[in-house]
Amino acid sequence: MDKMWAGRFQKALDKEADDFNSSIHFDCRMYRQDIKGSMAHAAMLGAKGIISKEDSEKIIDGLSGILEDLDSGRLSFDYGCEDIHMFVEQVLTERLGDVGKKLHTARSRNDQVALDIRMYLRDETNELIALIKDLLGAITEQAKAHKSTIMPGYTHLQRAQPITFGHHIMAYAMMLSRDIGRLEDAMKRMNYSPLGSCALAGTTYDTDREMTAKALGFDGITLNSIDGVSDRDFCAELMSAYAVIMMHLSRFSEEIILWSSWEFKFIELDDSYTTGSSIMPQKKNSDMAELVRGKTGRVYGDLFAMLTVLKGLPLAYNKDMQEDKEAVFDSIDTVKKCVSIFSPMIRTMKVFPENMYKAAQGGFINATDIADYLVKKGMPFRSAYKIVGQIVALCIEKKTVLDELPLDEYRKFSELFGEDLYDEISLEACVAKRISAGGTGLASVEKQIDYINGLIK
Ligand code: ARG
Repeated sequence: MDKMWAGRFQKALDKEADDFNSSIHFDCRMYRQDIKGSMAHAAMLGAKGIISKEDSEKIIDGLSGILEDLDSGRLSFDYGCEDIHMFVEQVLTERLGDVGKKLHTARSRNDQVALDIRMYLRDETNELIALIKDLLGAITEQAKAHKSTIMPGYTHLQRAQPITFGHHIMAYAMMLSRDIGRLEDAMKRMNYSPLGSCALAGTTYDTDREMTAKALGFDGITLNSIDGVSDRDFCAELMSAYAVIMMHLSRFSEEIILWSSWEFKFIELDDSYTTGSSIMPQKKNSDMAELVRGKTGRVYGDLFAMLTVLKGLPLAYNKDMQEDKEAVFDSIDTVKKCVSIFSPMIRTMKVFPENMYKAAQGGFINATDIADYLVKKGMPFRSAYKIVGQIVALCIEKKTVLDELPLDEYRKFSELFGEDLYDEISLEACVAKRISAGGTGLASVEKQIDYINGLIK
């Protein structure tokens, strides 16, 4: 079939060039947004008398028939078409004849595609937010069950201070809650309709861009037609928010992988989210978490592809911009898949409090608390810090731990040590005493859980 733009040409496009140029095999996924955008446009053309009311209604009916037929599978995409926009217009014209040819009045594929991606990403990002909220639900459920489960907290992956498992995983809940904020924020900036910018300069017709913007759920219109069709900053912005989500999930994944190892054995993932080895019968691998960690690289790559495609492009539309879609689609698909596999993986994860407790008992994790003990009895912190360092060295030499070193040994370092020391430095006491806001104490963790639960309601 002749291209819609064939009028100016004497020869048909080379077959390979045609395939190279075509985007329908990936932009077809925006068909719903494309058709809804066209329906709003046709309604506006009718309302403004640019086409007759009757034609406008015919076009809208025709488009809604195409939408139904694509949804139900009665109509399938013609991959010989250049892109989804051409395909819809072609089917409309096949069905309606000349009336169908009126749809593209006062519009261009440039504003059409800029509109479609915005609408598509709005739908997808809202779905992503719902998935993140579900993951937050899974995290708070585990945190609630383990708000008093003691584990070692780490810095430099060295045992540092006792914390609770609930407190630890709520850190990820906070990160993910900010991720939702980032997505919502980027969507606010994106939510202005470029439709009616036309090819780049606007149009000679008396259009009503506010009308289409409102009908399609936008907060307003893009104020500069060249900007409206040329920029994809909203893609880059959303994709950087997606990349940050992946960064968070990859850190969580890394810990899940470590915790599942025999060296830690803090948790065990459910069989339904782990895999075995083809040769080593004993293995239970955290493949899902590893894949999420791996796919983070892919989402970072998509962001860089997008930024690089846009870099140095002159205004206004350039075909380079067709390269935006595969990157942004891959990015949102990957993040959605990762978030949705994470929720049940967290929900079904088994926690081993005894192993966490045992790990917390080693490693002189309560050393800071002994220093604080001396400080409370009047010693300056730096002096207390030094003494406790020497006591730790003694324990290492004697192959014992702080809780078991006899009082007379302690008193060789300072007369301030008394019988009350052992109660003060028990793991339970160390956690319970951390009453500062946001700390690992029970009330603080409960407050964090309430905050997140309020957010996802
Ligand atoms: N398939 C094109 C894209 O994704 C649609 C816009 C085409 N515009 C043009 N002037 N050739 O960017």
